[in-house]
Amino acid sequence: MAYFAVENVTKSFGSTKVLKGVSFSMEKGEVLSVIGSSGSGKTTLLRGVNFLTPPDTGRFYLEDACFYDAERDKRLSEREFRQKRLNFGLVFQSFNLFPQYNVLNNLTLAPRLAAKGASKEALAEISANALELLERVGLGDKAKNYPCELSGGQQQRVAIARALMLSPKVLCFDEPTSALDPELTGEVLRVLKDLAKENITMIVVTHEMKFAREVSDKVIFMADGIIEEEGAPEQLFDNPRSSRLRSFLASTRE
Ligand SMILES: Nc1ncnc2c1ncn2[C@@H]1O[C@H](COP(=O)(O)OP(=O)(O)O)[C@@H](O)[C@H]1O
Ligand SMILES: [Mg+2]
Repeated sequence: MAYFAVENVTKSFGSTKVLKGVSFSMEKGEVLSVIGSSGSGKTTLLRGVNFLTPPDTGRFYLEDACFYDAERDKRLSEREFRQKRLNFGLVFQSFNLFPQYNVLNNLTLAPRLAAKGASKEALAEISANALELLERVGLGDKAKNYPCELSGGQQQRVAIARALMLSPKVLCFDEPTSALDPELTGEVLRVLKDLAKENITMIVVTHEMKFAREVSDKVIFMADGIIEEEGAPEQLFDNPRSSRLRSFLASTRE
C-alpha cells in the first residue's frame, strides 16, 4: 500500500462541483507535481488534503490506514481537524508570515502552542530546531529580522522552514513561486530541490514546468476537477496523450 493516498475526493461550492472524484497515491519521499490551468481545482485539492476546506466525499490513507473518510468524519470538531492537519504542511503562494513576529518566532509559535506547559528544555529544543531549519533554507542570519525586512524569496523560504517545524508527513506547496519576481524564483526552487533530495514527501502545485520535469517522481495534470492524465514526468511532458494536456503544455511554452 501507498504512504499517502487520496481516494475519490469530491468537493462542491454551492451547486458547482469543483472536484469530481480525484484519486492518487504516493510513496514515502516522493515528489508529486500538480499542473493544470487556473480554475481546474488544484488549490481546492490541496486545501482538502490540509482540511482547510475538507472534501464532501472521499478518503485519505496515511501509512496504510484510513486516516480520513469524509462521510464518517465530517462532524469532527475543529480541534480534531487541527490534530489531523498536523500531519500535513501547506506553503501558500503568498508566504502568509506573521508580520508582527520576527523570523524565529514565526517558526516557533505553532510548536510552542502545541507544547503548552512543556519544560524549559523542550522549549529550548524548539528554538534550536528552528535555527537549524533556518540554516537549512540559507537564512541562519535572519532569525531576528522581521518579515518586512526580507525579500519575497527569503520570506517564502521562512514559510517553508516554518512548515517543516511540525515535521509534516506530507508537505504541500501551492504555487510557491508565482508571487515572486523571476530572479527570486530560483532560490525557492533550490530549497524545494534540496527537500526532495532529503526524502521529504511533497505535493507541489506549480506552473514551473522545468522544475516539475526535473524534480517530480510523478506528475498529475488536472482539468476541470478531474485528473486528466498522470504519470512520470518524461511521459507527460514528452508524450502527452490527452489533447487537453497537449494544448495546456503548448500554452505554457508561449
Ligand atoms: N471558496 C470557494 N467558493 C466558491 N467557489 C470556489 C471557492 N474556492 C474555489 N472555488 C472555485 O473552484 C474552482 C477551482 O478553483 P481552484 O481550486 O482555486 O483552482 P486552481 O487552484 O486550479 O486555479 C474555481 O472555479 C473557483 O472559482
Ligand atoms: Mg490555485
